[in-house]
Amino acid sequence: MAKNEEQKVPVFASLEHVYGTGSQLEEAEQRFFNLKSKFLDFFGHPPDVYARSPGRVNLIGEHIDYEGYSVLPMAIRQDTIVAIRKREGGETEKVLRIGNVNSEKYALCTYPADPDQEIDLKHHRWGHYFICGYKGFYEYAKLKGIDVGETVELDVVVDGVVPTGSGLSSSAAFVCSSTIAIMATFGANFPKEELAQLTCECERHIGTQSGGMDQAISVMAQSGFAALIDFNPIHATEVQLPAGGTFVIAHSLAESQKAVTAATNYNNRVVECRLASIVLGIKLGMKPEEAIANIKTLSDVEALCVSFAGTRGSSDPVIAVKELLKEEPYSAEDIENITNEKLQAIFAGSPSSLDVLRAANHFKLHQRAAHVYSEAKRVYAFKDTVSSKSSEEDMLKKLGDLMNESHYSCSVYYECSCPELEELVKICRDNGALGARLTGAGWGGCAVALVKENIVPQFILNLKEQFFQSRIDKGVINKNDLGQYLFASKPSGGAAIIEF
Ligand code: GLA
Repeated sequence: MAKNEEQKVPVFASLEHVYGTGSQLEEAEQRFFNLKSKFLDFFGHPPDVYARSPGRVNLIGEHIDYEGYSVLPMAIRQDTIVAIRKREGGETEKVLRIGNVNSEKYALCTYPADPDQEIDLKHHRWGHYFICGYKGFYEYAKLKGIDVGETVELDVVVDGVVPTGSGLSSSAAFVCSSTIAIMATFGANFPKEELAQLTCECERHIGTQSGGMDQAISVMAQSGFAALIDFNPIHATEVQLPAGGTFVIAHSLAESQKAVTAATNYNNRVVECRLASIVLGIKLGMKPEEAIANIKTLSDVEALCVSFAGTRGSSDPVIAVKELLKEEPYSAEDIENITNEKLQAIFAGSPSSLDVLRAANHFKLHQRAAHVYSEAKRVYAFKDTVSSKSSEEDMLKKLGDLMNESHYSCSVYYECSCPELEELVKICRDNGALGARLTGAGWGGCAVALVKENIVPQFILNLKEQFFQSRIDKGVINKNDLGQYLFASKPSGGAAIIEF
């Protein structure tokens, strides 16, 4: 394939290319069959084209993508498929009709076809994620001067099997597959790196200030490889994982609703990191107004922190955090005394950050910055370990240690764990995992454990007994669904367009 072709979303005429062979293919065939029948039931005609985009598990590098640091996820097999068709507009107001194969849980919803519509964040509806992709497509086309003609009506049916609230990026799988389906139905195919950027930006219409990890891996993953994802600009480098280790994913069964809890959890941490970086900038010699105007992330002040550490004979930015940011939480007033500016004014352009300020009365700058700088280093240590010449045994041990350190940092410094995740991570380690950690945003959702290949079946049985059985008995989950909550995963391929 020519280089610029490789950079586009692949278009396949059959499912083998995406799902391989055997039971996975059979399952996919069944899903596509159901999706098409549902489409016919809803709308009376078949779809034009399909797009799929996978969920992901983040192996290491948590809560640092939005601070500009590289992360190391892999795509999983579970994905979202969007079937779509353009409808010739009637005389009345043009609409988008969005259905779901699981119509009991996700009722058919309609939205105006206006790409400039505001998403009603006060009333969360599942179809909002499609609208994120819809707005994103038009924003991108406008930016690039691509003529997509008049707005048309769209019929859509969605089939998502990435568990929601699991930390496995069901939302990115949905937004990416939606955007790609819309793109395909307009006969366009944007370069993957630009698509990753655009889907990341358009998912923010839902109100979370996410980084770009989830969309980047969903769009760019290559089957058989994890990826080191860099930002500014987005770029993916394939990472070959050691063959003797397997990543097992287990759901804590605490649902993590990133969009709903944004003001106190996810966006709160983004705001705390911004404040930490501004305060560090000022303490390291910047004028307050200069720091407020120019410093957006901790990576923006890293060089200053490193040169400060240099005066202490180190190159570790955490030294600056330890000396310059107090461990006790800061009040808004403490920070305003340093910045000479009201926090409301600093975040005036960002309604979702203002929501954070309304919900919080203290900010843990020291802990959040210490997490980000140390986690950023662990990502490179992980990458260096897999490409080192160490024996596989040593390699797996080192990777496991890094995962354990990452979990500790997330739990203690970033405070994005929860009791169920703590219990699950401990059970994983007690049963022989070389390392285990929460994955994704946290506050619920999944843990990922690195396990030697030869003990995987026993490990899964033990987790079933020690974590899941009591939850099955209490009716939290159905025993037949256990496979959705506990599974081993190999790195899967990224987004694709399917035209039969
Ligand atoms: C969510 C976000 C990502 C990333 C993770 C935490 O999944 O969408 O951008 O910040 O949380 O690492």
